[in-house]
Amino acid sequence: MVTLNGAQCGFCTPGFVMSMVAYRNADERSDDDAAIDSALSGNLCRCTGYAPIVRAMKQALAAPDSPFETALSALGAKLEALQDGEDVAIETSHGAIFLPASAASLARYLQEHPDTLIVAGATDVGLWVTKAMRALPRVAFIGQCPNLMRLERDDEGLHIGAAVTYDAAREALAALLPDFGALVGRIGSTPIRNSATLCGNIANGSPIGDGPPALIAAGAMLHLRRGAEKRVIPLERYFLAYGKQDRQAGEFVEAVTIPPLAEGIFYRSYKISKRFDQDISAVLAAFALRVDDEGIVQEARLAFGGMAATPCRAVRAEGVLIGAKWHEATLEAARLALAEDFTPLNDMRASAWYRQTVAANLLTRFFEESQGETMRLAKAGGLAHV
Ligand code: FES
Repeated sequence: MVTLNGAQCGFCTPGFVMSMVAYRNADERSDDDAAIDSALSGNLCRCTGYAPIVRAMKQALAAPDSPFETALSALGAKLEALQDGEDVAIETSHGAIFLPASAASLARYLQEHPDTLIVAGATDVGLWVTKAMRALPRVAFIGQCPNLMRLERDDEGLHIGAAVTYDAAREALAALLPDFGALVGRIGSTPIRNSATLCGNIANGSPIGDGPPALIAAGAMLHLRRGAEKRVIPLERYFLAYGKQDRQAGEFVEAVTIPPLAEGIFYRSYKISKRFDQDISAVLAAFALRVDDEGIVQEARLAFGGMAATPCRAVRAEGVLIGAKWHEATLEAARLALAEDFTPLNDMRASAWYRQTVAANLLTRFFEESQGETMRLAKAGGLAHV
């Protein structure tokens, strides 16, 4: 494109080049103008004019395979082996990549190479490369690993494997926690939700990930594995400090399980961001509360993102709620306790004051909604006495 003057401003160039690559790899291809026009259709160039672009396409069709294409074809052949249940390992002078055919293979590989970076959707790790220019010398890509793509619902709850994308999990999440299902629709765009995984959002321990608080409030359990050893911990215990998670060398997140909500639990999740769609949250709050027939709070899980160095529960506010009557005075006390639970940061998304205020206000909204739900659910005998 450059040598044949096929690009001026360059705005359209990536699209044309991708179409050229696809056409070079097509089963049937021809260098007649009509076929090339059709292969390039959908791309619009406002400056160059199409003749130089078509010439570039003709030259590209005649060119021998580049080293990248050769490597890509070799990878394609290896990926077929993966479909047949064989691991794929590729080592080059730039680094190593491993595609496990099973969770057991991944566990073995990580024990041999504990420095391996696990990649599923690469929606976060990709930025380490493109923005921070980091090299990734050893990577395990789990996005094709059948065991880790498991999404099942049984008596223990909804089991979401490490390679399950947000989009793949969305329907099942919405069936279990409608509020969380709706929230997922605001996380990234469709292409991102088709790549990003819920477990990746957990594993990298971001304090502003949207998944963890919503899952913590729902009582999710995290499945970790190291070799043949497996352990299951409440999700909130995984986050130890900023950038530090409870994961040993060679250990990996295998899955997360969301238990069925206990009878009478009222659950809500709220995302506060400057833009409604596709924005990083200033605060993410998710609450689950169970009130008995006397109106006394028996169970309370208040989870937040964006309020501390890790996603975490508001233990003081929960302490105020449990055993108290679920009414305005208790709400007020819990709002005040939230100020003891957190010392949020000022950053470009929100000030500390804003975060503190909005966190308390979300609790008020939850209270109000629980009252509304009470009236609506009263006929079904749910939270009638709240
Ligand atoms: Fe500018 Fe094509 S080079 S739009």
